[in-house]
Amino acid sequence: MISLADIQAPIATEIQEFEKRFHQVMESDFSLLNQTTKYLLKQKGKQMRPMLVLLTAGIQGGVTEKTYRGATLIELLHTATLVHDDVVDNAAYRRNSFSINAVWKNKVAVLLGDHLLTKGLLLSVAHKDYDLLEIVSEAVKEMSEGELLQIEKAKQLNMTESVYFEIIRKKTASLIAACFAVGACSAGVPTNQIEKMHSIGEKVGMAFQIRDDLLDYGTHDIGKPLGMDIREKKITLPLICALKKASWWDRQKVLHILRNHGHKSKKVAQVIEFVKSLGGISYAQKVMNNYYKEAFTACQALEDSVYKKALSLLIQYTIERCK
Ligand code: IPE
Ligand code: IPE
Ligand code: MG
Ligand code: MG
Repeated sequence: MISLADIQAPIATEIQEFEKRFHQVMESDFSLLNQTTKYLLKQKGKQMRPMLVLLTAGIQGGVTEKTYRGATLIELLHTATLVHDDVVDNAAYRRNSFSINAVWKNKVAVLLGDHLLTKGLLLSVAHKDYDLLEIVSEAVKEMSEGELLQIEKAKQLNMTESVYFEIIRKKTASLIAACFAVGACSAGVPTNQIEKMHSIGEKVGMAFQIRDDLLDYGTHDIGKPLGMDIREKKITLPLICALKKASWWDRQKVLHILRNHGHKSKKVAQVIEFVKSLGGISYAQKVMNNYYKEAFTACQALEDSVYKKALSLLIQYTIERCK
């Protein structure tokens, strides 16, 4: 399997430059902010989004100062949304550590998320990067719509495949698509090229979230809680497929567990078994592979370079990753 380190090697200098800027902008001068941002910087995550920004810019003509600002903006917003997401999902773990809400409680997590988001916006305003701001604000708007739609569907327990695709396109693929668009925009290419990259990014983002949802059904350590989606009544693709195939009676049984017993690990394990036995996992893998293939093929049509090679590998990593 490809490792993130291998993919990063050809852009090691650029990643270092990005990290320098990201640390600078995260720094704060008063106690609680300082403590929480230091904590976030220690568990840095995979940094796939800034890598996507750097690689797309590289492909489209070269990494510029604006590219670094774009990558920083995106990682700030991503970090903010994770801090908020763990409040929304009641999740106590993130990146192999306790989540911000678990250590400092919800109030701090909500305000810290807002603060990081604003820092990103101010960074762009200070440099008049209004084009980047436009791309990214649209994505952030979609992300909150996606998360809200997900909450609505968790309450009603009436998920369909097309609503699921809409949710993941909004909550996850929109920001990954924005990475591609920001990278291209920062390299100064025309609008149609930015849009083309955006649409490749959207496919990568769809595959990325399906992989995330599959990992939630797994058993190995992913640095965040497992089985969390069932617990939170999130009906993702593997379960949608199984519910569709199941008999009326089995479907009622599983919906009853989701409604009333999602907090019991034994019951969650039963749902996972149900999903596996009806081929839900392999179905989701198939759909994920289709998104991957579309994105990969579109990427191959771009001009050859070391950046293109690394981007192809990163797209592959999206669906093979174990965390
Ligand atoms: C997690 O994103 C949130 C999703 C959209 C699934 P990542 O898996 O990229 O999180 P980090 O930054 O590496 O922790
Ligand atoms: C992605 O969905 C959430 C965001 C868009 C922030 P998840 O809720 O599945 O992400 P994880 O699994 O908590 O990282
Ligand atoms: Mg979550
Ligand atoms: Mg998840």
